[in-house]
Amino acid sequence: MTSGVPQGRSVTVRVPAKINLELTVGPLRADGYHDLATVFHAVSLYDELIVEPAQDWTVHATGDFGALVPRGSDNLAVRAMQDLAHAAGVDQAARIEIRKQIPVAGGMAGGSADAAAALVAADALWGLATPRRVLDELAAGLGSDVPFALTGGTAMGSGRGERLAPVLTHGTFSWVLALSETGLSTPEVYAECDRLREGSLVADPRPSPGMMAALRSGSAAALGRALANDLQPAALRLRPELGDVVDFGMARGALGAVVSGSGPTVAFLTGGVEPALDLAAALQESPLASSVRRASGPVHGARVVIPSAERREHPAGRRS
Ligand code: C5P
Repeated sequence: MTSGVPQGRSVTVRVPAKINLELTVGPLRADGYHDLATVFHAVSLYDELIVEPAQDWTVHATGDFGALVPRGSDNLAVRAMQDLAHAAGVDQAARIEIRKQIPVAGGMAGGSADAAAALVAADALWGLATPRRVLDELAAGLGSDVPFALTGGTAMGSGRGERLAPVLTHGTFSWVLALSETGLSTPEVYAECDRLREGSLVADPRPSPGMMAALRSGSAAALGRALANDLQPAALRLRPELGDVVDFGMARGALGAVVSGSGPTVAFLTGGVEPALDLAAALQESPLASSVRRASGPVHGARVVIPSAERREHPAGRRS
């Protein structure tokens, strides 16, 4: 059992947001989840978690969406660290700082990303070298999207999303993300999806051949055509104005648009940096999106990084 409060050491982890390039929702299961087939894609919109030993568990959140992060023991990052502490027989608390740039309840796995980052940070802070299989199991117990936030890249998700298989892709894709001021509740969007599709369920959800071919070829045009999300009609029913956001981007040259996960973030695929800059500027000037980000993908999952201050002092010592 590791105990006591070692001083002066902190660990910083950077973790990406995800877009669901394709999401096929199957029937509601007895446990309240839906079987699904999805293609996760990690993009370069990051949260940063800084953890250090402390007498008590505390959460401090800053950044664009810091004000919306829960501070108590219902915070998924705290639960993640406590789960790992329990599994590894560690008796220590930590101060967790979250620099939150991924929207909260935005369909981009914001809370799940922080849980994944917390597992990686705790493992490093306590020097555990936890086997990957154990981290994956803890991640799946914390939420359906948490295992992917550990892995990153582009991956197929099955089960409730927690079972992953890597997908071969070529090239880098350039995205514009239209964020909304207020989030959508994931359970509500799934429930609306069930209501809308009563009697027309997909019994055995699978990824489409068109999506797999687009990813293998690296063609942004083909990927744009293949983007699909069964939760999108439900998100649009709950937030009709998202339809205007999609139409706006498609009319201004986006190669494809999709509501990410349960929304309300709308992800636009563009042909590269220049078209992405143009679309981001147009959206920013419109009254349709509360804020706009550009991002590229795929990127790697949660990783320990050298904090920005140290990076400036020792530029050659980069680890990520
Ligand atoms: O796994 P996570 O805690 O992120 O899921 C949040 C909620 O989203 C679940 O309680 C469930 O209502 C819904 N969900 C679902 N099917 C999935 C994943 C999530 O119905 N495959």
